[in-house]
Amino acid sequence: VASSTSQIRLLLVEDVAQVAQYIRNLLNAQDQVKLLDVISDGRKVIEQIREVRPDILMVDALLQGKVNGLEVAERVRQAGINLPIITLTVPQKPIKIGPGMGVVKVLAMPFSGFDFMNAIQAANAEYKALAPENVSRTYTVYAPKGGVGKTTLAFNLAVAMGQIQGLKVVLIDGNLQFGDLRALLRVPESAPSVLQLPTDRISETDLQDVLWRDPSGIDILLAPPRVEMAEMITARDLDKAISLLKRIYNIILIDTPTSLNDAVLEFLDASDIILNVITFDSTTIANSRAMQRTYQEIGYPPDKLRYVLNRSDWPAGLDPKDLVSSIGRQPEFLVISDGRLVVEANNQGIPFVLSDPNAKISQDVTRMAHALTAPSGAALAAAGRR
Ligand SMILES: Nc1ncnc2c1ncn2[C@@H]1O[C@H](COP(=O)(O)OP(=O)(O)O)[C@@H](O)[C@H]1O
Ligand SMILES: [Mg+2]
Repeated sequence: VASSTSQIRLLLVEDVAQVAQYIRNLLNAQDQVKLLDVISDGRKVIEQIREVRPDILMVDALLQGKVNGLEVAERVRQAGINLPIITLTVPQKPIKIGPGMGVVKVLAMPFSGFDFMNAIQAANAEYKALAPENVSRTYTVYAPKGGVGKTTLAFNLAVAMGQIQGLKVVLIDGNLQFGDLRALLRVPESAPSVLQLPTDRISETDLQDVLWRDPSGIDILLAPPRVEMAEMITARDLDKAISLLKRIYNIILIDTPTSLNDAVLEFLDASDIILNVITFDSTTIANSRAMQRTYQEIGYPPDKLRYVLNRSDWPAGLDPKDLVSSIGRQPEFLVISDGRLVVEANNQGIPFVLSDPNAKISQDVTRMAHALTAPSGAALAAAGRR
């Protein structure tokens, strides 16, 4: 007998009474799936999802009324709600799953109880496998220019991701020579660093002992306390450290120096996503464009790279259109300038996303944290096609 914790909670959007009744009957004799409610008006779906918190939404694609079935699915995605959606249709009206629709499964009527349970269980399992708390992703914050906000953004982004339920976040100070985070967070010189990682065999407990637990709630792998110690760390050590951290943390975020040394190349390689910070500054833009070519030559897929336009409200005499044509696209994320808050928070070694969560800059960073960690519409659609 399935326990109530493993019960799959289903919300049904169906305006044909006979179909709703058929599904009720199917679910009568079992306790694996719990039908929370049946809604016949597509306009009420989002409100009801927030109210009853289903694991799965099932929508009749042939739904009549002000909002049709596929529009319901689209609205749910647009509202930023991530949950698997199963659409019901008839064989004469096949549904094309487009990217971003996020529809996981299509179930054609008439279906048997077996088909029905299978679709629900498969959608639930696939979705769970994609959920942020079940995967580990690595992000490197890089810019081919100093002083553009890498360390500030890496720290605050890490903390914002750490605020998301179920995510364990570790921040690596990849600036091995001048560990910026040590200074930013006023870490005592005696605090352990990546140097304390044993080089022969690293176990999970060894790792836990060398991480700095910041009051902001995230763990940090610090850089060595002295400049000359950076040479003692090889790219292989870093590779090992990252692969171990992946077993413990859902998010590995890496702050980097400006130079493109072996360590940085290792970080870029190990990353799922590179967050390239740019500002309205012509050298930053030109160097970022040069790096884009380098990434292409290395063979990174184009969507591994995302641009974060920092101080986005400060065009500094540059035309935003020129920036877009230089990098060949709109920057994916914008973070505004807030000198007063940023400098004050940095000077105290605290993240502004916590000290002033309502500030526009904090909301920009928090939005980025959510966008980067949500299972993407494309990933969901891909799961649906499998
Ligand atoms: N969005 C922003 N608004 C205002 N000041 C910022 C912003 N981002 C960064 N800064 C400031 O810019 C300076 C450089 O930031 P930092 O994070 O150290 O850059 P990097 O790591 O790229 O060298 C710091 O003084 C920081 O306070
Ligand atoms: Mg820095």
